[in-house]
Amino acid sequence: MTTRILTGITTTGTPHLGNYAGAIRPAIVASRRSDADSFYFLADYHALIKCDDPLRIQRSRLEIAATWLAAGLDVERVTFYRQSDIPEIPELTWLLTCVAAKGLLNRAHAYKASVDKNIETGEDPDAGITMGLYSYPVLMAADILMFNAHQVPVGRDQIQHVEMARDIGQRFNHLFGQGREFFVMPEALIEESVATLPGLDGRKMSKSYDNTIPLFSSAKEMKEAISRIVTDSRAPGEAKDPDNSHLFTLYQAFASREQSVEFRADLLQGLGWGEAKSRLFNLLDADLSEARENYLRLIERPAELEDILQAGAEKARKVATPFLGELREAVGLRSFRSAVQSADSGKKKAAKGARFVSFREDGQFLFRLLSAEGEQLLLSRGFADGKSAGAVTKALQADAQDYEIRANGEGFDIVLKDDAQPVASTPTFATQAEREAALAALRLALQPKSE
Ligand code: TRP
Repeated sequence: MTTRILTGITTTGTPHLGNYAGAIRPAIVASRRSDADSFYFLADYHALIKCDDPLRIQRSRLEIAATWLAAGLDVERVTFYRQSDIPEIPELTWLLTCVAAKGLLNRAHAYKASVDKNIETGEDPDAGITMGLYSYPVLMAADILMFNAHQVPVGRDQIQHVEMARDIGQRFNHLFGQGREFFVMPEALIEESVATLPGLDGRKMSKSYDNTIPLFSSAKEMKEAISRIVTDSRAPGEAKDPDNSHLFTLYQAFASREQSVEFRADLLQGLGWGEAKSRLFNLLDADLSEARENYLRLIERPAELEDILQAGAEKARKVATPFLGELREAVGLRSFRSAVQSADSGKKKAAKGARFVSFREDGQFLFRLLSAEGEQLLLSRGFADGKSAGAVTKALQADAQDYEIRANGEGFDIVLKDDAQPVASTPTFATQAEREAALAALRLALQPKSE
């Protein structure tokens, strides 16, 4: 069973060392797990909520995209895209907005903090608060639910948003699922083992505290930032206390075990802070120099980055487009041309009449799914034995969570959750309307018979 891991990065700033060690590096490591199916994206619609400077938005999207790639993200393996390249996301946001309780959003921390601040300063409670800020959690729910993510790695401040996504998704399932769970319930993933890096002053490294160490700047700038790390006033030769030194914490986040042990021993033996800082610089410089070179190369080739992100968007939309089609269908936004009747009796009949037919060809075992009218809805690939083919037809009839329908050119493929290769495909269709109708018919035919 693969685990779908999804996370977004709001594109308002330039990534610093804390973002790298706390989010980017662990996410890249997680994406290499053999059971991981990772979706990482630039949350540039979210960025518009916080920032109305177009140049900064554009610059930040470019820098963040380049940072992820330079740090070693393998875009063949993961799905890496910009939120704003997926029109299904704002569309889903609206469907979810229509089921999200206003009372739920009233409780969102970010919104509440703004209201509280207004009240404190004697302003109108809603002063300066946009609908974007208010609806922020619904957009984030759409990000997560669109791809049925199981795990969402986030910082603690985002846990509430993931819980809201569950709440909203559940409500949609309940209202429109007719027994089917459209949306998987996501879990926030808080990596306890991942360091929250301290900044220059020892508080959490954060742009809002102005205590960051740049990630891919010049060596000179990095050196300069490191020189500003606050230490105690013990002189060279005096024993230092590594456990109360954020310089040591920073060192550890990038050092091997042996290097850390050695650095600790040297501090205890009176290593001077100046020397300690230059060792930290050397460590970071060595660890990041290759990635920095990649970064500088990428930043100078924005067209290449654009191509990579477009390819990522295409990959993401293979999942999003058919899924949104089903959701539109579910809420009643259906094509008038669709052959499928919306009346319940029509549904039952369609589901009942459809049947799997298995056959052999060239020594392989295949199956078709035929509609009540005998139309071919699906044709499988060849399986080595009848048992494997049978197991797939069973999986398709059992639980919609076990498979995914993906757009593929003019038709659709069915992919099992723990399998990369499609197990079956629909015919191709010349028009969008035919595609929609076929998708709806397929959905109905695959509905468990008990309904
Ligand atoms: N709100 C998140 C943050 O500021 C970014 C984000 C947007 C996100 N959509 C998401 C994170 C979906 C995880 C999943 O950190």
